[in-house]
Amino acid sequence: MSENNPFPDEGNTGHIWDDNLRELSNPPPNWWMMAWYASIAFVIGYGLIYPMIPLANTFTKGLTGWTAISEFNEAVAEVEAMRKPNEDKIAAKTAKEILADDELSAYVEASGKVLFGDNCAACHATGGAGNDGYPVLADDDWLYGGTIEQIQATIANGRKGMMTAHAATLSEAEIDTLASYVVGLSEGKADEKGKALFQSKACFACHGMDAKGMAALGSANLTDGIWRFTEADQLASAKRTIAHGVNAAGDAETRNAEMPAFKDKLSEADIKKMAVYVYKFGGGK
Ligand code: HEC
Ligand code: HEC
Repeated sequence: MSENNPFPDEGNTGHIWDDNLRELSNPPPNWWMMAWYASIAFVIGYGLIYPMIPLANTFTKGLTGWTAISEFNEAVAEVEAMRKPNEDKIAAKTAKEILADDELSAYVEASGKVLFGDNCAACHATGGAGNDGYPVLADDDWLYGGTIEQIQATIANGRKGMMTAHAATLSEAEIDTLASYVVGLSEGKADEKGKALFQSKACFACHGMDAKGMAALGSANLTDGIWRFTEADQLASAKRTIAHGVNAAGDAETRNAEMPAFKDKLSEADIKKMAVYVYKFGGGK
């Protein structure tokens, strides 16, 4: 930069390089100044209209009172207003009446997915496809009955099937005979010895003389080949169930099977929705 200004009269800033290259103090171009003023005006205008400056415990509110959260709440209220007619109908009707109403049951089918996903899918899988240890809800095989009322009662009150352990009361040979009898039943095999034993032991009291189960007890149908408790070796699985029971107190190897009650977790309307939703998987009776 030159120490002496060789161009004293042209109003440069005194910043001169290589004796020739110099910075002039021309005002910025008009368009640039306009844009600058416009941005200042925009900031002031924005601050007048919208919330802008954070203060100690609050913030400048703006003249319109707009906030992002109020806009969100309005949008939610709008969706709720759209749902309200259907929600009111669901509250007023029984689950059976909802099923009979095509429009309403279609609404439940469409809107129940999230509720099912949040509350049920962890155990029963999406679409009620079932998981290891958790029954399939999409077939027409029901432990506790597949009418809409029975399904609703299952969801509201929960279920806990009880089968006593038989390890102490039956011999190993008897357990073998009973296990191959029930596995054979599901494969359509006749076994008179097994049948006689089944009907002479307490088995029939819960599963029925025909071994088809009773909805009131949740005692599985043993003849249909649909196993509540599955293992690679179905015979070994049946032996374990017979020996150690289901939810049998004091037996460390018993099967645990408990459907939790939802009456304190979900509203009555939501329970009805879930009953209709499960029914509409296709297995409802
Ligand atoms: C913690 C796991 C768990 C959750 C969560 C759960 N269930 Fe269950 N559910 C079970 C188990 C285990 C059974 C079987 C009980 C038995 O074998 O006695 C069952 C049984 C059922 C049955 C009876 C099936 C039949 O064959 O009769 C229905 C219906 C059902 N659940 C629906 C639901 C719905 C709807 C939800 C959500 C609102 C739900 N469940 C949430 C574990 C669960
Ligand atoms: C106190 C009633 C009760 C008695 C007695 C009883 N069961 Fe059960 N049993 C059940 C119930 C309930 C289930 C289903 C439990 C569940 O899924 O929650 C079951 C399940 C089973 C299963 C498993 C079925 C499957 O789908 O995986 C077998 C096998 C079985 N019982 C065989 C027998 C035999 C054999 C006897 C006689 C020694 C017997 N049970 C006695 C109530 C009983």
